[in-house]
Amino acid sequence: MNIVEFIKKVPKTELHLHIEGTLEPTQMFELAKKNNISIPFKNIQEVKAAYNFSNLESFLKIYYEGAKVLIKEKDFFDLTWAYALKCKEDNIVHTEIFFDPQTHVNRGIDFEIVINGIYKALQKANREFGLSFKIIMCFLRHLSEKSGFEILDQALIHKDKIFGVGLDSSEKGNPPSKFKKLFKKSIEEGFLTFAHAGEEGPPEYIWDSINLLKVKRVDHGVQCLQDKKLVEKLRNDKTPLTVCPLSNIKLHVFNDLKEHNLKKMLDEKLMVMVNSDDPAYFGGYLNKNLIEIQSALSLSIIDIKTLIINSFKSSFLSEEKKAEWISKI
Ligand code: HPA
Ligand code: ZN
Repeated sequence: MNIVEFIKKVPKTELHLHIEGTLEPTQMFELAKKNNISIPFKNIQEVKAAYNFSNLESFLKIYYEGAKVLIKEKDFFDLTWAYALKCKEDNIVHTEIFFDPQTHVNRGIDFEIVINGIYKALQKANREFGLSFKIIMCFLRHLSEKSGFEILDQALIHKDKIFGVGLDSSEKGNPPSKFKKLFKKSIEEGFLTFAHAGEEGPPEYIWDSINLLKVKRVDHGVQCLQDKKLVEKLRNDKTPLTVCPLSNIKLHVFNDLKEHNLKKMLDEKLMVMVNSDDPAYFGGYLNKNLIEIQSALSLSIIDIKTLIINSFKSSFLSEEKKAEWISKI
């Protein structure tokens, strides 16, 4: 079996995926029409042309615009179901997904509509083809901590469905320290914590995510290599770093996949793995991310196995399930 076939067939987990980032242009148009929402694009070609981002901020503007077509519980269900089918296609057996409730609640959509649509689709995928899952609610860091507390209040009623809280959106200028109290309260309420850090922002944001927000994983984290002490800590603590190669190219974190630092992170023995982030916007789902980064960096089969095993180890599957899946790799 060649390495591409191996990547496609091997059971995998995904740990960094924004469900709103799986909204494909065709679905965006269908929903806009159905819900009578105007979007700033005339056709799918125009949408694709707009996906020419210069940085995180320029992506987020279009991403929040796209999310406005999601109105009914069925829209969130259909969005999530389409992603679940992609998991089946890519042999993803376990996924831990993010959603951004403030994006929806702040434009008048009830929290229940959002969480129930997502949860019901994942439950159906679990029943029908065994996909296991966790749901992580992200706070938008460009908004205030107060707004975060308000959304946390609403999440408390859905503790049975929401496993943890994360932090996403515009990183630069919105440091982890802005949300210290919010994360403390989230932990007291029983949520595990995660945060995007070191995507565009400095290594200090990774330190602060660990020390102040007590995160279980760092999302992206690719800027860590600038700081030797941080690398040592991440390696010693086996802190997972959920790297997203195609996202990093689309948002110009690196100029080219060949310049991506994933191989250096592997060589530093960091707990890294590959994820798709916002696949409908960044040009590919998990298998495509793995196939393209393998080719660009000439990763060996051992490197690929390490990435996949790291992902299982960094997931919140039970220890028994982790061992069972890893034994199949
Ligand atoms: N970074 C920050 N916020 C996001 C991202 C990301 O990669 N994707 C969706 N929201
Ligand atoms: Zn992300």
